[in-house]
Amino acid sequence: MLPAAVMEKAQKEMLDWHGSGMSVMEMSHRGPEYTSIAKQAEADLRELMAIPDEYAVLFLQGGASSQFSMIPMNLLRGKTKADYFNTGAWSKKAITEAKKFCDVNIVTDSSDNNFTTIADKSTWNLSDDAAYVHYTVNETIHGLEFDDIPDTGDIPLVADLSSTILSRPIDVTRFGMIYAGAQKNIGPAGLCIVIVRRDLLGNTVENTPTMFDYQIHDANGSMFNTPATYGWYLAGLVFDWLKQQGGLSAMAEINQRKKNKLYAAIDSSDFYHNPVDKQYRSWMNIPFTLSDDKLDALFLAEAKDAGLLTLKGHKSVGGMRASIYNAMSEAGVDALLSFMSEFESKHG
Ligand SMILES: Cc1ncc(COP(=O)(O)O)c(C=O)c1O
Repeated sequence: MLPAAVMEKAQKEMLDWHGSGMSVMEMSHRGPEYTSIAKQAEADLRELMAIPDEYAVLFLQGGASSQFSMIPMNLLRGKTKADYFNTGAWSKKAITEAKKFCDVNIVTDSSDNNFTTIADKSTWNLSDDAAYVHYTVNETIHGLEFDDIPDTGDIPLVADLSSTILSRPIDVTRFGMIYAGAQKNIGPAGLCIVIVRRDLLGNTVENTPTMFDYQIHDANGSMFNTPATYGWYLAGLVFDWLKQQGGLSAMAEINQRKKNKLYAAIDSSDFYHNPVDKQYRSWMNIPFTLSDDKLDALFLAEAKDAGLLTLKGHKSVGGMRASIYNAMSEAGVDALLSFMSEFESKHG
């Protein structure tokens, strides 16, 4: 979901942005109008996340998936090894791409437990000579989320924050790099945000294409080529909306209440089930199954009739998944809870 207020604002400004006589879609990305939109969006994101000046904030294309390759290209810096946590489907994709560039050491592997928990940190196999350590903070498909930021000492920590960015405050200074596809908590698909410490840049692997070099994007204000201008604009509207909501601490309170009530309802029922270890449950993506999977199709059909959409779980996991990103209101979660309770009393 995107906040309705954001979409209404975009609708109002669609044909004529602030009396400019142009839609944002029609602007030159180098013109003064668009430059002001782009700069404001970056400033608002920096404010919301308290991003220090020594970090570049890049507005890129190619999704989080392109970063799976761009990370080793940019951050190996002459080293031949990187550490990766394998906690789910997105970790796995990042590992596959990194293996094309370096030796990958797996810090811990949750495939043994079907990605339902993360082994205790005392068992983690971190290397002394890794160029960086990569982890997926929240595994969107499995609903498995780290409850703490791993301590990697002086080795830069790289975080795929795609499905949990902006859901609560996070200490950016703990990371060498953070990246996130926009299409969850930031804005529409087509934009990917990279926040990277500038001292890590400028030493790409040989033959890195110019478009895959973070330093080039930083030096050009993310306008080495034409950026995803409309997505960047909408992201800016979302950042402004977040500031109006009270920023990330306020979002954290709401998000915590939302996920707590959903997990409480699932855990107190014999009809619904979530397999994830309580310590590592996602704030944003809550997969659950019904006691009888023959009822799945009926659940989805009745949910749709009740106005509750896109509840089908990822095909690799099955069942249902409630993705309750920032724009999903507490009332929306309450509506889902009432529906689940009614469905259980009818069919349980
Ligand atoms: C955690 C995570 N990483 C990476 C991706 C891939 O993002 P994109 O589709 O923007 O490449 C997703 C997409 O859902 C995701 O949830």
